Amino acid sequence: MQEITNKIIYLGQNDENRDFFDELLPLEHGTSYNSYLIKGSDKNALIDGMYMNKAEEYLKELDELGLKIDYIIANHGEQDHTGIFPILLEKFPEAKIITNNICKTNLMNMLEIPENRIQTIQNGEELSLGDKTLRFMIAQGVHWPDTMFTYLVEDNYLFTCDFLGAHYVVDNIYAEPSEDLKRAAKKYYAEIMMPFRSMCKKYLAVIENLNPDIILPSHGCIYREPKYIIDLYKDWTSDECKNLVLFPYVSMYKNSKSMVDYVCDKLEKQGIDCVKYDLIRGNIADFAINLVDAKTIILGCSMVLASPHPAAFNAAYLLSIMKPKAKNYSILASFGWGGKLTEPIVDLLSRLRANIVEPVMIKGNLKEEDYKLLDEFSDKIVELHKDKMLV
Ligand code: FEO
Repeated sequence: MQEITNKIIYLGQNDENRDFFDELLPLEHGTSYNSYLIKGSDKNALIDGMYMNKAEEYLKELDELGLKIDYIIANHGEQDHTGIFPILLEKFPEAKIITNNICKTNLMNMLEIPENRIQTIQNGEELSLGDKTLRFMIAQGVHWPDTMFTYLVEDNYLFTCDFLGAHYVVDNIYAEPSEDLKRAAKKYYAEIMMPFRSMCKKYLAVIENLNPDIILPSHGCIYREPKYIIDLYKDWTSDECKNLVLFPYVSMYKNSKSMVDYVCDKLEKQGIDCVKYDLIRGNIADFAINLVDAKTIILGCSMVLASPHPAAFNAAYLLSIMKPKAKNYSILASFGWGGKLTEPIVDLLSRLRANIVEPVMIKGNLKEEDYKLLDEFSDKIVELHKDKMLV
């Protein structure tokens, strides 16, 4: 518990030991679930709640405050912020959950919250706590269809729930710019926000226009200088890619790796940045972070049982759902005897509606004629990055 002002209390809980989120990305710094108490002259409101595995600590702090809670604001229905709602409703039998229509349905479905305990709001609607006013900003599609932000009018504070957050635990609740924080925020953006890049861009502009003094997300640090996180998001959500080729690869007998190494070397000599990512041994966070910037993504792939290696197939599937802004995709693949190697991957990559450069497939070890194919392939990639090299 920490006072932000004498009327706004931080009730977030750190979860240093959480090792994965969504059972997908490893957490290098754990995470925090941020909840905020606003003390009005007439009513008190909680903004977002708590994940159930931190319920005990959260309720203890709430008890120490000894306040009656009148409203529980649900900016978004996911259980890491709402899991504790049934307990809060029991503890404060007169309290209402305030949220939008979509989130209401989610709360009823996921937590079996009775309908009569939920009061819905429309975009722009205000709720008075006496000397404090909460204004709700629907931000549909920024992560979930039920997402909204809460704006504390008198203080010019914006509570953005998941948006602009990070899985990042430090003793200081206020952001101190560092490479570590930037990495955590970028990884978080890649997994949670990147699939909804156009909506993020739209609401980032809304926030910039609002010009809040403080941004208070529901994971990670509070931004007393919002420009820091806004500028990072402007870069990540822009249509511009970096002069970067990402090579996620899996190689059973080093042939696909040799193809990746050869092309990578050729591209680097032409001034293109390249990152190789081992799909078996790598930290998936490095994969995710580079997805944010890469202009071209080339999968290196071996064949297992007449099909693409599952690690490459899984990477293609992840690309198809994470929707990076890369403009070009391709495959460098090697096989021993036969089967369908590139088609299942191309099927997945086609969902991204980007340019697919004709993959190169090689049987067995790399031979002289194969190097010629790889030279031609590299020339195509260089051509696609020409605009970046002139910058
Ligand atoms: Fe942090 Fe989408 O919940």
